[in-house]
Amino acid sequence: MVIKKVCCIGAGYVGGPTCTVIAYKCPEVTVTVVDLSQERIDQWNSEDFNLPIYEPSLVEVVKECRGRNLFFSTDIDTAIQEADLIFISVNTPTKTFGLGKGRAPDLKYIENASRRIAKIADTDKIVVEKSTVPVRAAESIQRILQANNKPGCSFEVLSNPEFLAEGTAIRDLLNPDRVLIGGDETPRGRRAMEDLACVYENWIPRKKIILTNTWSSELSKLAGNAFLAQRISSINAMSAICEATGADVAEVAHAVGTDSRIGPKFLQASLGFGGSCFQKDVLNLVYLCEALNLPEVAAYWHQVIAMNDLQRRRFANKIISSLFNTVTDKKIAILGFAFKKDTGDTRESSSIYLCKFLMEEGAHLNIYDPQVVPQQILSELKYPSICDDPKKVDRLVTIFKSPYEAIKDTHAFVICTEWDEFVTLDYQTIYNSMLKPAFAFDGRRVLDHDNMQQIGFHIETVGKRRNMKGLNGYTPVTP
Ligand code: NAI
Repeated sequence: MVIKKVCCIGAGYVGGPTCTVIAYKCPEVTVTVVDLSQERIDQWNSEDFNLPIYEPSLVEVVKECRGRNLFFSTDIDTAIQEADLIFISVNTPTKTFGLGKGRAPDLKYIENASRRIAKIADTDKIVVEKSTVPVRAAESIQRILQANNKPGCSFEVLSNPEFLAEGTAIRDLLNPDRVLIGGDETPRGRRAMEDLACVYENWIPRKKIILTNTWSSELSKLAGNAFLAQRISSINAMSAICEATGADVAEVAHAVGTDSRIGPKFLQASLGFGGSCFQKDVLNLVYLCEALNLPEVAAYWHQVIAMNDLQRRRFANKIISSLFNTVTDKKIAILGFAFKKDTGDTRESSSIYLCKFLMEEGAHLNIYDPQVVPQQILSELKYPSICDDPKKVDRLVTIFKSPYEAIKDTHAFVICTEWDEFVTLDYQTIYNSMLKPAFAFDGRRVLDHDNMQQIGFHIETVGKRRNMKGLNGYTPVTP
């Protein structure tokens, strides 16, 4: 089958950019992205291109394709009916209740989407699971589809996990390291995989398109995110040793990363990783291992999350101890609330947890982020697991439109997100506007620490002791 019409269920961080790039690169394919949320679809369709997500270059590509062969709609049924191929790109968050709470992914959105496809479709479809799912989820989708399909209508389910990173989504989609397609090892399954591969071949060289069995494809996505998260936790574990000994984690990362077997990427120590995927997908893997009766394997991967939690806590403790062991009623500016630069996404951002720890101590927080809207910041902080009293958030948190205004008259500022603009702020002016001693906490290691110290700041960072006097009782062992 030559794919002419594509439907994507879920117009979020994955469905939106992925299908925009497919429409951009395949002008002869009509792509309709559908969602239950009228608000989200209205934003995708907004005249002033005020899109629901921020990604560099996304607006430009949407401008090129929207109304030509790219459409956003809430008419899910028509889009399903007309499509040759349907991507399922709905959310799969960690369960917050019931069996597998705090570990297993909630698959209700996947199941609802599958049931809708089965109910509506009256011609053969290729159904592609793009959401990140546990191994063998495709089998469940296939069963739901087969048990509910209309006579004469058949489905082929493929796994095609998405590897884009937020902040570089368009770049990643235009030039991916690889595209992974998993399917049944039957002639029909093979044909469906080839049909999807043909779509990608419009702009991606064939040698970058990997075909595997369905389960390998599903597991590879979890494995990929687990390996990436593990590297961050590994360097963060080293940062704790650096802070206690006088080694510098940047020097260690450089020395380790120049080994070609290891490589330099993802070795940046920080106050911890965030984002909607790393924690969720590692927990998903942990749950899978537990279900498979592999408790040691589960414990191994769970430690990646434990190390991340520790890193956030250690950084908050460093702030509190530096500020003379109390932050109660002190004013602290938080620079950056997105989980990383070049995105407006705040899901699982380390900023949230840092704010939680500081609010528990009664600190007043002045928050600034160039992309995250105030409403979003407040709703993250008012989540019951972060702060059980929304009024406390209203009392302690103020949101600013400028970093200078946020930092003025504070005791300290903390860099939580590595936005480029934070590197080039006028730190002399900032220093002059702060209470003294003026403290700077660089949770992303983006500032020039010697320069900050020369200006007069007391600066603390991750993975490097600024004050070499007294090594916390550590005595180097002499052989
Ligand atoms: P998201 O929450 O931004 O978007 C999901 C969308 O699906 C929402 O707009 C929701 O309203 C919609 N939806 C849910 N059920 C629906 C239904 N039955 N019919 C129509 N629309 C429905 O989620 P995001 O970030 O796009 O993630 C989607 C999947 O992709 C997840 O499994 C995630 O793990 C995976 N993924 C996410 C990446 C990321 O960077 N955000 C990267 C790679 C994979």
